[in-house]
Amino acid sequence: MVFPFPLQGHISPMFQFCKRLVSKGLKVTLVSTTTSIIQSMHAQASSSITIELLSNELGQQKDESLEAYVERFGIVGSQSLAQLIEKHSRSNSPARILVYDSVILWAQDVADRVGLDAAPFFTQSCAVSAIYYHENHGTFKLPLEGSMISIPSLPPLDTDHDLPSLVKDMDSYPAILKINLNQFSAFHKVKCVFFNTFHKLEHEAVNWMASQWPMIKTVGPTIPSVYLDDRLDQDKGYGLSIFKSTNNTCITWLDTKGISSVVYVSFGSMASLEQEQMEELALGLKRSNTNFLWVVRESEREKLPSNLLEETSEKGLVVSWCPQLEVLSHKAVGCFMTHCGWNSTLEALSLGVPMIAMPRSSDQPTNAKFVQDVWGVGIRAKGDEKGIVKREEIEECIREAMEGEKGNEMKRNALRWKELAKDAVNEGGTSDKNIEEFVALVRS
Ligand code: UDX
Repeated sequence: MVFPFPLQGHISPMFQFCKRLVSKGLKVTLVSTTTSIIQSMHAQASSSITIELLSNELGQQKDESLEAYVERFGIVGSQSLAQLIEKHSRSNSPARILVYDSVILWAQDVADRVGLDAAPFFTQSCAVSAIYYHENHGTFKLPLEGSMISIPSLPPLDTDHDLPSLVKDMDSYPAILKINLNQFSAFHKVKCVFFNTFHKLEHEAVNWMASQWPMIKTVGPTIPSVYLDDRLDQDKGYGLSIFKSTNNTCITWLDTKGISSVVYVSFGSMASLEQEQMEELALGLKRSNTNFLWVVRESEREKLPSNLLEETSEKGLVVSWCPQLEVLSHKAVGCFMTHCGWNSTLEALSLGVPMIAMPRSSDQPTNAKFVQDVWGVGIRAKGDEKGIVKREEIEECIREAMEGEKGNEMKRNALRWKELAKDAVNEGGTSDKNIEEFVALVRS
């Protein structure tokens, strides 16, 4: 039984994990919390993945704060999850183990209560998780002092720019910080701990974690198989999109553009840009005189400068959502200007696309640090004292990524990571072996 937190960036990797388990012969029940997600996923679910609705009352209400939602989610969710597991225990195929999203802390308690083994699944990087772990265990103290911080198994991190925003601005979302810090509290009793990463990508952080907890298993990247090993039948997409995509428009438009001539710009499913940032970005794209495909979600649309679309109609296309994997794998795309959400980062790495990193919040600053300084696949756009990345900086980053020697080097590195990502999930690769070991454990 697999239970993701109901956000696009959490459901996609865990649903992909389900597909891998099914390909190794397991039956999987995916626990969903909203009917709309279920409807959009049914088309993709195979006969071996059953999707079960936990409760009708678990979607986030309009005007409900994230904190209030998380609290209600815990109260209603834990009762419903216990009932669902018990219902299953009376069926022909009772659940053998609960794989829960590591941020759903109460799922472990429910599993304990009903006597079911459980395993958390981390949808963020191992490095980011290590930072939360060390914060919680007193390796460093909040509020932070000094400009650099040294954390076991990680490169030295700049306290202003490289740490998860929840750690740097500890008062921004205290309830969410608390959840992230407590993701490790049940490690002493879990069967396995899954990370959506692969060993070579984060070997130092993974090795450090594994030295403490041998049951750590890297199982990523959880990108649809067709983009990696192509061993899973018909696995061409995530099978879930909270937003409606303008499929054909983007691809048809990209088809008309030259090889590596387009900057693809997207800030994921949640980030909201300041009005000033939207304007600077629009002007930076215009000044670069490069082709661009920019995803501006409906909720962000009114922040676009009114004349941008007419003035750049030759060079630019703005859409409200796109099939990102198809876009990133299109030969016309030369680089990806991204907020460095973990899924987008893994997708770019797995598809060999260099990045211009413009992190906004959460884990993104740390991912951006690794993109630039550890993996050598991107450059990080610098913000001013308010964190706004100005038009000149955007123009300069695009030039560097699309034209300069730096861009060539990033491309070479990105292609190397693409091969390593494929190796990890291919037969005998580190992630593949870890999934097989887990399947054997479930069957034993
Ligand atoms: C959130 C957090 O913001 C992120 O920091 C964390 O690492 C995961 O959860 P999100 O902001 O949505 O996720 O970013 P990301 O993790 O990059 O996921 C976005 C997903 O939406 C990707 O899988 C991407 O392919 C998809 N996407 C995005 C589309 O399919 N189309 C689009 O137009 C934009």
